[in-house]
Amino acid sequence: MSKYQSQIGRSLPRVDAADKVAGRTRYLTDIYLDRMVYAYPIYSTISFGTIVAIDPAPAAAVPGFITTLLALDIPGENQVGVIIDDQPLLAAETVRFKGDVIGVAVAETESAAHRAAQLVQVQYVEEQPYLSIDVSKTAQSKYIHSSNIACTHRVDRGDISQGFAAADRIIEADLVTPYQEHYYLEPQGCIVVPETDGRYTVYGSIQCIYYVQKAVARALGIPFSKVTVIQTPIGGAFGGKEDVPSELCARSALAARVVGRPVKMVYRRHDDAQLTSKRHPFQMHYKIGVTNDGRLLVAEINLVENAGAYATLSSVVSYRAAMQAMGPYVIPNIKVLSTAYYTNLPPAGAFRGFGSPQATFGHERVMDHIADQLGIDPVELRLKNVLRPGDMTLTGHQLKASVGIEATIKQAADAADWVNRRRKNTSNGRYRFGIGIAASHYGNCLGAAGWAMDGAAAKIQIRRDGSVTLAYGLSEMGQGANTVITQMAAEVLGIAPERIIVLDPSTDLVPDSGPGVASRNVVMTGNAIRNAASQIVPVLKSAAAEMLETDPDRIELRNDSAEDTDSGNAVNFNDLANHLFISNRPMDSLGWWHVPALKYDPETGVGEAYFTYSYSTHIALVKVDSLTGLVQVEKIWAAHDIGRAINPAGLEGQVEGGVAQGIGWALTEHFQTKNGSVITPNLSTYLVPTTADVSQVQTILVEDPEPLGPWGAKGIGEPAVIPTAAAIANAVSQAVGAPMDSLPMTPEIVLNALD
Ligand code: MOS
Repeated sequence: MSKYQSQIGRSLPRVDAADKVAGRTRYLTDIYLDRMVYAYPIYSTISFGTIVAIDPAPAAAVPGFITTLLALDIPGENQVGVIIDDQPLLAAETVRFKGDVIGVAVAETESAAHRAAQLVQVQYVEEQPYLSIDVSKTAQSKYIHSSNIACTHRVDRGDISQGFAAADRIIEADLVTPYQEHYYLEPQGCIVVPETDGRYTVYGSIQCIYYVQKAVARALGIPFSKVTVIQTPIGGAFGGKEDVPSELCARSALAARVVGRPVKMVYRRHDDAQLTSKRHPFQMHYKIGVTNDGRLLVAEINLVENAGAYATLSSVVSYRAAMQAMGPYVIPNIKVLSTAYYTNLPPAGAFRGFGSPQATFGHERVMDHIADQLGIDPVELRLKNVLRPGDMTLTGHQLKASVGIEATIKQAADAADWVNRRRKNTSNGRYRFGIGIAASHYGNCLGAAGWAMDGAAAKIQIRRDGSVTLAYGLSEMGQGANTVITQMAAEVLGIAPERIIVLDPSTDLVPDSGPGVASRNVVMTGNAIRNAASQIVPVLKSAAAEMLETDPDRIELRNDSAEDTDSGNAVNFNDLANHLFISNRPMDSLGWWHVPALKYDPETGVGEAYFTYSYSTHIALVKVDSLTGLVQVEKIWAAHDIGRAINPAGLEGQVEGGVAQGIGWALTEHFQTKNGSVITPNLSTYLVPTTADVSQVQTILVEDPEPLGPWGAKGIGEPAVIPTAAAIANAVSQAVGAPMDSLPMTPEIVLNALD
């Protein structure tokens, strides 16, 4: 019997790396089609008001101009809301933010389309805009929609009055987190091709191909079967390509329908910043009751989110923040209210973590407030309250397995030499040092609120020559999805990963697999691959048994062959594949996996909010320059319970990227608007961290297998960023000797804190 090398736990180099490094990957903007024309949005220049007249005539003067399209040109439904129907595809009456799209200009060149869009004259009657949560809350009339509340979610468990009565101490804090712009390097873009039979093919930088299929079909008033959506390689997304691509693709499809030629639309950077979704700013109030020895008894938490002009994915963010509001701790009595308010600002949507980084900033700053007031070490306080198997989460979900939070805290603290560093870190002349910890739990996949669409597919297709294609319904967006699914498919077939090609996701290849979000890929696609294997592996074994004249039960698939475990005789996978064909056996299989039923009560928010959780602890070591207020993050120790590492190098890459994004949100990225206009649209004003700003990262992988995960694995995409900013804020608070309860911690703010 030959030795078998498992693909699971192996750091396979990224399957897309060589093409990306060599510049061969063709992103959306690299694609030019014959007779292609260009479209550009015509959008509101006021924050709130009513359109009284639109005059497209001046646009016709631009050389190369073809046409303009307005709401009345929509043959289907003028609606592009993702979860609730509050967003017209093209505004016809009310405009709700600077950037609200009113129409589309089409021309022979990109610059002509852009120029034409700017020349369209729109007259408005302006209303007083609501440019902050505080102003939005006070509205008595003239609401942004039917009210100014986009959504609310709650958790109501135990008895908070009894909890507060029993508490030795009550500790309160207010926390504020800002916008974050995704700043994917590749801006939003798509191409829509009108085909024969009234069909359309859509190409784009898209996380959620099935959302786009629905949006295009809805706008054109045609069946889904006439819309094929193909994901081109994504140059960064981070959640920013969940909701917005539906808008671009549906508007471009209107143009393709009228012009009868392929239509390309790519946002210029300035407009990408003004028109598209961002991370929700949060205002949080925490009131916590504890015993003198640091046990959490009760929490009353109020979360308020700035949804911007349209709800898009606010309900997902608001729900998740509520379900995770007190973090990975045991707390018997809790009341959480999470409310998203509309404002006349660019819509806030999905951004890596879906509200978790904000909630983690809340509960982890508060844990440090508690530690300070009780004089307990922050690590000790967390270990005293942390979730262990058998415990219940804050929503009352009893955890049975894969609860690795305690291990992440202990291993991160050991690696960081917490006890010594925490003691030493005080002032030291010009530079002050601090060390801080933050822990979190992230519910994998869509959770109880999104359960209906939490299924996904994978299709394995074996070719006659022994090569294999793999199709799936989620997306590679730079996180390494194609690499881990290649490994998992290679594992189930017992073949070398080099045999497998992963196809670009297309709505024609596999059934609707829900959105490419929520750190779903490893769990969903991995389990779908295992399901596909449960169908095709017996076929391969029966074919091999026929060739080797033995029993299928004796066949093992490994080392690119099928082996008879008794005789040691083997048949090569190439010959086996060919034998499938000539013996008239099926050569493909479609796998499917759906998250199991969750017991959850939406009225009280009590129950299994998610089927399992990824746990993480980050410890940050910072150096604060007391002369300039500049914070340098020296090192992050990042411990993650991911159930099982499918690709350790890929996991490290995810963690390092997440940490960089967390450092940006914590320190340098200061997204600002003025009168509803984004005044930080580019990299000279919106400071995304460079290599000089990011820290060393030590990734620690904790493998506490999840019984429902493929090979025990859980998601990492979002957990990678979630605790970073909170850990940094806790470290800076120690360094400056004052609580840092809002982000970003720019030099000005740090200097003020030092005074
Ligand atoms: Mo999304 S915030 O990419 O899950």
